[in-house]
Amino acid sequence: RSDQIRQGRLSGERSGDLEHFLASMEADRWIAEADLLVDMAHLLGLRRQGIIDEAPARALMAALLDLHDHGLPEEAFDEKFEDIHAGKEAYLIDRVGEDFGGRLHMGRSRNDEVATCIRVRLKQELIALVRSLDDLRRTLLDVAAAHTETVMPGFTHLQHAQPTTLAHYLLAYEQAFSRDTARLREAYARVDVSPLGSAAFASTGFPLDRVYTAGLLGFSRPAPNSMDAVAARDFAIEVLAGVAVSMTTASRLCEELVIWSTAFVGFVQLDDAYCSTSSIMPQKKNPDVAEIMRAKAGSAAGSLAAAITIVKGLPMSYNRDLQELTPHLWRGVESARQSIPLLAGMIGTATFRTERMAAEAGRGFSTATELADVLVREYGLPFRTAHRIVGRAVRHGSLDLATVEAAAREAAGISVVELGVTEEKIASVLDPVHAVAVRNIVGGPAPAAVAVQLSEQQDLL
Ligand code: ARG
Repeated sequence: RSDQIRQGRLSGERSGDLEHFLASMEADRWIAEADLLVDMAHLLGLRRQGIIDEAPARALMAALLDLHDHGLPEEAFDEKFEDIHAGKEAYLIDRVGEDFGGRLHMGRSRNDEVATCIRVRLKQELIALVRSLDDLRRTLLDVAAAHTETVMPGFTHLQHAQPTTLAHYLLAYEQAFSRDTARLREAYARVDVSPLGSAAFASTGFPLDRVYTAGLLGFSRPAPNSMDAVAARDFAIEVLAGVAVSMTTASRLCEELVIWSTAFVGFVQLDDAYCSTSSIMPQKKNPDVAEIMRAKAGSAAGSLAAAITIVKGLPMSYNRDLQELTPHLWRGVESARQSIPLLAGMIGTATFRTERMAAEAGRGFSTATELADVLVREYGLPFRTAHRIVGRAVRHGSLDLATVEAAAREAAGISVVELGVTEEKIASVLDPVHAVAVRNIVGGPAPAAVAVQLSEQQDLL
């Protein structure tokens, strides 16, 4: 069996290197099954419109159903065919004869065929990815629900900044993943159109019913312009952007887990399943899954950059360059499909060391903001003055009353003692639990405010 497509216009043999250079067979494994569905839809469309007779239609459908049940034979993936579309056609012709098998490609080109296959498979991948993101979000919400009172330090610049709770922290990630999910759902709507019937780009003189075949394949509608249908890959770029952004969120959470599991921080113990050890250092427990996921986010961003750069210089309509984009699409999608369930598992099985979090919550004068706020709210100082006084006291190394008083005289020429500030007042204000409790407005970390966020996100999910 040889590549029948070349036998008319072209002559001569090609080297294996050349065939390999041109072939998309490896990536085509992603769309081989979809291609059989696309063939069936096209065949049913041809038959319905009376374009193909019953006998060849029956023979072709029997062969396609058999291939669907048993899988395409390896020979269909031979690189001499360049792609699975040609390899599968050669196989079908071999099987049912050219008089029947040579009729399937009426009114069709590989250009609309491949674009349809990619969209069919990509829709399946997006559904699975969105489901796994939903699972991850459910895990984050469950763990958060158990930790609304778990006070811990929050950071800016990775410096202790203000106290918060583990629930508030995890809900921040859940918010981000909820937007990531929404982006992928929105992208899905733009993937969900059928290029089938666009042929090379100018559609066809065969009276194809594109609405019918789109419906058979589960698409909402046919792509409205046949040139755009074969040339467009913005749907793939958009999905890759959604994947790269989701992986970026995942990577940030992984980075937390890496930092939190260090001996310095000690906020989390990851389950052994998600860790590796060292071949030389017998004591080591390394967060390798989180590290590899962090790196995969970089690869996903690379796939997006590759895809967008491949498309940017292409004139209408189909250009073979587009073949080079598709593996980046699958690589990006696969990285997210693998990562997101593992991340859910890693979070769901982790042990959070709440006593370490509590011990760190008040470190580094993390409640200084609250002291400044109380000087404003209860003693009438302008915020900038209070900020300067408290900052000066921290510079002097303490927030006890004597130091705050000295700082007030030095930095503002006033006495906080005369205003009525007491040692007990300062002590109560500096308690991290208090600082969390008073941050009880929309979006804040106070347990009641977090309960609202939790129930809103649970409803959304
Ligand atoms: N393997 C090709 C791709 O992935 C299929 C379309 C080939 N079309 C063509 N005119 N050579 O884009």
